[in-house]
Amino acid sequence: MALRKIVKHGDPLLRKKCDSVNVIDKEIKKLVQDMLETMYAAPGIGLAANQIGISLAIAVIDIQPQGKPVPLVLINPKIIELSGTLFEEEGCLSIPGFLAQIKRSAFAKVSALNLEGMPMIYTGEGLLSRAFQHETDHLNGKFYIDHLSVIKRLKIQSDIKKLRKKGNW
Ligand code: NI
Repeated sequence: MALRKIVKHGDPLLRKKCDSVNVIDKEIKKLVQDMLETMYAAPGIGLAANQIGISLAIAVIDIQPQGKPVPLVLINPKIIELSGTLFEEEGCLSIPGFLAQIKRSAFAKVSALNLEGMPMIYTGEGLLSRAFQHETDHLNGKFYIDHLSVIKRLKIQSDIKKLRKKGNW
């Protein structure tokens, strides 16, 4: 296993829709292990493959229910059902130092392959629902800040620009 570098907002790869995974081979399994290690070390509750520079539709999530690790590996995930509304603070490992309240669905149902290539259906409420939506957004080239009002999004983007100018991004 190895820690991978997390790329930040501004990297064009994060704006590109990730390719589907066709074969879950040794390399993919190693990539997933690295993603889990990188997520836990960050620390974070979710990580998409493009956040470590790999444009493949893979996400890992662990909201650690009851304080214990329960890693989920989602390969080619697709949101198949959303309902309800939540308005809570969100952040992103690729946009460090920023948090913003955004609207999400309170319940999400996701189809994905697991690491063995088995088709799975996952359902989540609250934080897990938000993590499903946040990570599938990443794989589609979207950030959580895309859900903000234009004014709030531009403020964060201009703050990022300032940090980048100073070499702090
Ligand atoms: Ni993120």
